[in-house]
Amino acid sequence: MTEIHPASADERAWVAQRLNELWASTTVVSRGWTHDASELPAFVASSGAEPVGLATYRIEAAECELVTLDAFRRGEGVGTALLHRVASEAAAQRCHRLWLITSNDNLDALRFYQRRGLRLVAVHRGAIDAARRLKPEIPEVGDHGIPIHDELELELVLPAAAG
Ligand SMILES: CC(C)(COP(=O)(O)OP(=O)(O)OC[C@H]1O[C@@H](n2cnc3c(N)ncnc32)[C@H](O)[C@@H]1OP(=O)(O)O)[C@@H](O)C(=O)NCCC(=O)NCCS
Repeated sequence: MTEIHPASADERAWVAQRLNELWASTTVVSRGWTHDASELPAFVASSGAEPVGLATYRIEAAECELVTLDAFRRGEGVGTALLHRVASEAAAQRCHRLWLITSNDNLDALRFYQRRGLRLVAVHRGAIDAARRLKPEIPEVGDHGIPIHDELELELVLPAAAG
């Protein structure tokens, strides 16, 4: 069974190491801004003692950006559990929306998020070509041999906070 907990201070070095392995760096670029995801609040998914997923997010101006989401074992509900946990944290912190950027080649993510209620709200043409100048590790060609150029912005409108 998957359990989710906020990353503890002791887990920070592990979070940075995993982000480096998964994203070639802890630096994430979205909408022209650079974030060090290893310094952001994070949720860890675990199965027994084994970590099986990681999500990082940031909250600003009543909006929550899901900065990274990774399931180390796919198709077992880890990504869904982490997404739900970040969304409930965002709602608890009175955010009105959860949003994220994915790249135009990430068809798995596009399917995953849309099947979980997120809507595609913008295509930022050429934004990843621009991001590549800030983070040269971003590959030119991604999943399915698709050239990576554009940021796709998805959002989930959160229920208004009570009270
Ligand atoms: C996108 C991503 C996070 C999804 O995570 P995941 O853990 O594989 O997702 P889930 O298992 O929750 O759901 C995926 C599918 O498995 C199915 N599933 C869920 N629980 C399952 C289980 N226990 N057994 C088998 N299948 C299951 C779901 O029905 C879902 O299928 P659907 O899309 O047809 O509804 C994952 O593919 C990933 O880490 N990708 C690489 C990083 C990335 O691109 N992140 C997103 C951009 S930031």
